[in-house]
Amino acid sequence: MDNLSVEHLTSIKDLTRQDIELIFKTADSFKEVINRPIKKVPSLRDITIANLFFENSTRTRLSFEMAEKRLSADVVNFSAASSSVKKGETLIDTVNNILSMKVDMVVMRHPNPGAAKFLSERVDAKVVNAGDGTHEHPTQGLLDAFTIREKFGTVEGKKVVIVGDILHSRVALSNIYCLQKLGAEVMVCGPTTLIPKYIHELGVKVEHNLRTALEWCDVANMLRIQLERQDIKYFPSLREYSMQFGLTKEILDSLPNKIMVMHPGPINRGVEITSDVADSSQSVILQQVENGVAVRMAVIYLLASKIERA
Ligand code: CP
Repeated sequence: MDNLSVEHLTSIKDLTRQDIELIFKTADSFKEVINRPIKKVPSLRDITIANLFFENSTRTRLSFEMAEKRLSADVVNFSAASSSVKKGETLIDTVNNILSMKVDMVVMRHPNPGAAKFLSERVDAKVVNAGDGTHEHPTQGLLDAFTIREKFGTVEGKKVVIVGDILHSRVALSNIYCLQKLGAEVMVCGPTTLIPKYIHELGVKVEHNLRTALEWCDVANMLRIQLERQDIKYFPSLREYSMQFGLTKEILDSLPNKIMVMHPGPINRGVEITSDVADSSQSVILQQVENGVAVRMAVIYLLASKIERA
């Protein structure tokens, strides 16, 4: 059987194009499964997975849990807010305690960049990064690229603009790596203060005018302003941000091409995107969420196939 070149999924940067294509091919089969009347396969009946969330999440957490249950894995959920982390326990001690209950795989969201990689080098379990601070959110990058492939048949040659708070966004970096590995052209657009200074070194175009960016692209991925990660003011007010970088129906309808609109969620309606755009026929926001389950099933299934079983 074909398999991934990596033992853990901590970063899209570590994946080859063949890895991503294998994940997509596997996700195609699982998408068919989750649309059947019986949405489950028995593949991982002997596997136990712990979902460790040290940061808030709605979509990613539910999507991983759903994916694991659709594969018939046993699932345990851990939330930092109600755990002994509050009493000073370290990450490694917390995880080793969970692993001693015979857990095979850990899905972890953590506020510190590099936390998933750190863990993967220290514990005897497969590790999947569900978002590590401002660094990467690999399964989001995969599901976004999978959604583009589903719509256009290929990612190769597509022009994708990522708009908004690129500086604090793990979704942006995972999207950049994933889309470029698949042959897309990537642009980032936002206020100068929210675009990392040396981002052009990743081979992306940089644009500060939203209309110019939208006239160039096939796909616009609209990101949320991550106020919770901003210690200083990067723009005068949300109102002014949204006047310059918010996607409205008026702008969308005036573009020469019918572009596809994406958003990883959670949406701040009326800031980066208006409600009529989020709910329009050009928006694929809910398809992204649906594809997230199939893509996460594929990642978990492929990593689990590398676990030595009795
Ligand atoms: N897209 C995403 O990561 O959403 P959550 O923070 O709700 O998981």
